[in-house]
Amino acid sequence: NGAAVASTATRSIITKLQDSDRDVVVFYGSQTGTAEDYASRLAKEGHSRFGLKTMVADIEEYDLEDLDTFPEDKVAIFVMATYGEGEPTDNAVAFYEFITGDDPTFSEMEDPEQPLKNLKYVAFGLGNNTYEHYNAIITHLNEALLKLGARRIGEVGMGDDGAGTMEEDFLSWKEEMWSEFANHVGVQEREAVYEPALKVEESELTIEDANVYLGEFNKGHLQGTESSPFLPHNPYIAPITLCRELFKSDSRNCLHVEIDLQDSNLKFTTGDHIAVWPQNSDKEVDRFLSVLGLTSKRDDVINVTPIDPTTKVPFPNPTTYDTVIRYHLEICGVVSRQFLASLAPFAPSDEAKAEITKLGNLKDYFSEVVSSRYLNIAQVLERISCGATWSSVPFSLIVESINHIQPRYYSISSSSYVDKTKPHITVVVESVPTTADADPLKGVASNYLLDLRYKREGIKNPSPSAVSYTTDGPRGRYKGNKIPVHIRHSNFKLPSNPAAPIIMVGPGTGVAPFRAFVHERAAQAEAGVPVGTSLLFFGSRNRTEDFLYSEEWEALGEKLGERFKLVTAFSRQGPEKVYVQHRLVENAELVNKLLQDGAYFYVCGDASRMAKDVSASLAKIIAEQRGIAEEQGEEIVKSMRAQNLYQEDVWS
Ligand code: 2AM
Repeated sequence: NGAAVASTATRSIITKLQDSDRDVVVFYGSQTGTAEDYASRLAKEGHSRFGLKTMVADIEEYDLEDLDTFPEDKVAIFVMATYGEGEPTDNAVAFYEFITGDDPTFSEMEDPEQPLKNLKYVAFGLGNNTYEHYNAIITHLNEALLKLGARRIGEVGMGDDGAGTMEEDFLSWKEEMWSEFANHVGVQEREAVYEPALKVEESELTIEDANVYLGEFNKGHLQGTESSPFLPHNPYIAPITLCRELFKSDSRNCLHVEIDLQDSNLKFTTGDHIAVWPQNSDKEVDRFLSVLGLTSKRDDVINVTPIDPTTKVPFPNPTTYDTVIRYHLEICGVVSRQFLASLAPFAPSDEAKAEITKLGNLKDYFSEVVSSRYLNIAQVLERISCGATWSSVPFSLIVESINHIQPRYYSISSSSYVDKTKPHITVVVESVPTTADADPLKGVASNYLLDLRYKREGIKNPSPSAVSYTTDGPRGRYKGNKIPVHIRHSNFKLPSNPAAPIIMVGPGTGVAPFRAFVHERAAQAEAGVPVGTSLLFFGSRNRTEDFLYSEEWEALGEKLGERFKLVTAFSRQGPEKVYVQHRLVENAELVNKLLQDGAYFYVCGDASRMAKDVSASLAKIIAEQRGIAEEQGEEIVKSMRAQNLYQEDVWS
C-alpha cells in the first residue's frame, strides 16, 4: 500500500473523542482533497487560536449510529463537498444516506422527537454554482441535523468554486463562525502558536537503502509481488505505449496518449475515466527546496511520524525531502492567504515578516500581488525575501499545511468494445499566461506527460517557459514512460441499445468520450450490429490547428455511412465566433427529430459556460420546434436529465 494510514481502532466517534481527549471533531467529505484540507485547517486553527483539542476525521471511518450520545460539551464540524450532480463525495455516501434518510435507528433513540439534541455542530460546504445542485449536500445535511434536534453554531458556510471564490468564501465564513463558536463554547482567543502534529527526524539511512521510499507509489508491484487490486491508494504503474501530438501549432499542445493495462486487472468500459498521478517539475521542486534552504539536504533520509495520534502521515516512511515535495505536495497551486499568514513567525527578516503579514491580512493586496499572478508558495516566498532562505519554517508545518497531490482524471477517448486493454486519453497541455513579470501557470499533469514524450523522442522542449521533469521514475525505480493510474467508473454511457440515436456535443478535448462512442458504433456496424444515428458537434479554434482527430472522422464516416454526421464549429476562423451551440440551433429540426425518435443527448467539456449554454440552447430548440413555451422546453430538458437521456461529463 502506497499511503501510510493510521488504523482507527474504534468506529465510534464518541469513544474516539473520549479516548483521545478531544473537544472538537472536524469531519470531512472530500473527493479531490479540498474539503479535507479545509477540515485540517479548521482543526489546527481551533487549537492554535483557542486552545481547543481538535481532531480531523474521514467521515467514512466512523459509524455514526451513536450520535445521540454525543457529549454536550463537545462540537462536531462538518466540511462537506457536493460532487457531480448534487451527490455526496464517495467517502460520505454512507453517512449522508444515514442522516438524510428515514433511518429507523433514530426512532429507537432515547428521545425520538429530538434524538440529536445534544449535538452541537458547525457546517461548511464546498460547491460549484455552475451546477444545478449548488452545495446540495451541506444544505440537506444541515436540514436533516436541525430536524433531528441538533443545534448549529454560526451560519452554514458555502464556498463557490464556480465563481472562483472558494478560498475567500471559506476565510470570511470562518471568521464569523469562530467568534460565535467562542461565545457558545466559552473559550478565549489566545496568541496563536504553531504546535507541530508531525515529527520530522533525520535518519541514518541513505537513499540507496531499499527501504527508503522514493515516490514509487506501488512498491510491491514494482518488485513483482502481486498487489492488485489497483485502487486509488494502490495505483498501477502503467506503460505508455504511444504518445503523439494532435495540434498543429507552435504554441499549444494536445496529446493523444495510449496506456497499456494488459498486465493489470484493471477494467474499463467506454465513458469511464482514468486517474493519473502527476509529479512536480524539476524547476518547481528545485525552487521550493531552495527557498526553504533544503537544497543540500534534498536527498537526506527523514522519518515523519505523528506526534498527535489522530494525525495521518500521508506517505510511506522513511523517505526524503525531495520525494515528499516532488510526489506528495501540491506545490504548484496558488498559495492560500491563511497559509502565508501562518509563515510570518518564521520569516528570515523583519521586512519579510511585515510583508507576509500584510499579504496574509489584506485580501485586496493579496489578490493584487499573488492571485493575479497565480503565484505558488515558493514564488511568493522568493519575492518577499529577495533571495534570503526561509530555513526556519518547520518542515512539519509544510507537510501539514500544503495540499497533498491528488490524481488528475481524464475521460477515456477510446472504446472498450474495440480494445479493452489499451485506453486512450486526450490531454490538452495547460499553460495560462499570467502577468508579464510572472511565469505562466502550467498544468502539472499535462506538462508532465508532454515532457515524457519529448524526453522519449529526444525532442528539446520548444516552449520558452518549458519545465522539465524527472521522467526516469523515482530514482530510476521504474523507468520513464510509465505512469501510475487507476480507473474511475462513470455513469456517462452509451445507450444499452446500439440502435438508439445519439447526439453528442464536445468542443475541445470534450470530444474525448465521443471519439470512443463513434469508434464503438463503427466497430459494431462492421460486426453487423444495427446502430442508430450518431450526430456529433465538435468545436475548436480553427480547422488547421486544433481540429482534433480530423483524420479519423472520415474513415469512421465511411464505416457508418448515413448514420454518422459531424458538425463543426470553428470559433476563430471567420469574422464571428461560432460555437457548438450555434450549430445546434442551425440543426434544430434534425436535433428535435432525433430526440423524438428517443435520442440520448451528451455533453462533455467546460462546465461553467459551454455546458450551460448548450443546455439552454437545447431547451429553446425543443420549445421552438414543438411550438411550446420556453419554460416547457426547460422542463423537458430537466426530465431528460432525470431519465438519464441527458448526460454530462463536464469540468471547470
Ligand atoms: P474560443 O476560445 O475561440 O472562444 C474549444 O475550446 C472551443 O470551445 C473553442 O473554439 C472555444 O472558442 C470554444 N468556446 C469558448 N467558450 C465557449 C462557450 N461558452 N460555448 C461553447 N464553446 C465555447
